[in-house]
Amino acid sequence: MDAVQAPIVQVIGDLIRQTPGTISLGQGVVHYGPPPPALEAIRGALEDPATHEYQDGSGLPALVDRLAAKLRAENAIEVGRGSSVMVTAGANMAFMHAVFAVTEPGDEVILNVPFYFNHEMAIQMAGCRVVGVATDQRYQPRVDALRAAITDRTRAIVTVSPNNPSGAVFGAAALRAVSELCGERGLFHISDEVYEYFTFGSVRHVSPAAFSGAADYTISMFSLSKAYGFAGWRIGYLTYPDQLHAAMAKSQDTILVCPTVAAQVGAIAALDVGRSYCAPFVAELADVRDVVVSKLKALAPLATVPAADGAFYVLLKVETDRSPMRIAEQLIREHAVAVIPGPAFGMLDGCYFRVAYGALQKDTVAEGIGRLVTGLRAILS
Ligand SMILES: Cc1ncc(COP(=O)(O)O)c(C=O)c1O
Repeated sequence: MDAVQAPIVQVIGDLIRQTPGTISLGQGVVHYGPPPPALEAIRGALEDPATHEYQDGSGLPALVDRLAAKLRAENAIEVGRGSSVMVTAGANMAFMHAVFAVTEPGDEVILNVPFYFNHEMAIQMAGCRVVGVATDQRYQPRVDALRAAITDRTRAIVTVSPNNPSGAVFGAAALRAVSELCGERGLFHISDEVYEYFTFGSVRHVSPAAFSGAADYTISMFSLSKAYGFAGWRIGYLTYPDQLHAAMAKSQDTILVCPTVAAQVGAIAALDVGRSYCAPFVAELADVRDVVVSKLKALAPLATVPAADGAFYVLLKVETDRSPMRIAEQLIREHAVAVIPGPAFGMLDGCYFRVAYGALQKDTVAEGIGRLVTGLRAILS
């Protein structure tokens, strides 16, 4: 555990609490809660004695069926023909199960850099080694570099699209190339799709498990946390090839036994409302993203920000040799605005900050970005 990084959101959260009035562009959360029918269903479930008992490890059959229908209709993933669904306490747990299922201690898992910090942490906790491969200047995967990083110990390549922390949506051709590489080399492709609904303009999300033959080696993970404002209810799910079922079931039984029953009942009702629930929020976020990017562009040449077509993050590159953690602390203490420093995402070469804009309304984001721009200019002058 000493080798695993500290949970950065909590570290930054402690600093924020010491500076009241700080606008947080830190944690990756949305500003809305669950659809009302989900809350009604949860209230109703409290009266049912079955809610208070252990239930099926893979999830309530009614929820698993509902997810299979969603995966078929929206992701072109056919569950039941050689692949299974499991409900977990969020996509983070799904990732932990996937790592336990496909690795043994000492194995390697390739992450595109920047990576999602909990992925690095999970791989290290399983006694495995993270092999980071830098993405290109637009934070898109570099397939030749991924190929060159494969060794005898490599078990999987992870992609996160839409991406945390860069906001990049990986192109269909790039995802297909990564998928084919995994297929050729006998690796698992672990695909984190928790931001599947969060794409802007004409950009579309693609599920790699839908590529021909890819379901045999692809593990896809999803979450209700962002799409349905469900973060505190802890419901995520994954699909995986049936050959991994025994391992997945061991991990699930040991860590969770079964997902919280009332939360699963709420999840069924949320899925019945469907993705249209978050569509207006995503449209709003597209406007907020425009405000964020246009204000940050004013920092050029001191800082640059590539296009971000999805999720609710941008990754700002600042031209300085100074420590990103020090600057992040100074931004909170002296300018009352919080962002997450790049080293948490494996960005060790250069000074980067993740700016999250999902939790705030447009005016507050504009104020926060204003403070960030003023703060960076003052700190770096
Ligand atoms: C890329 C990515 N994967 C997984 C998660 C965790 O989601 P959950 O709340 O479903 O565990 C997050 C949360 O921020 C995320 O950004």
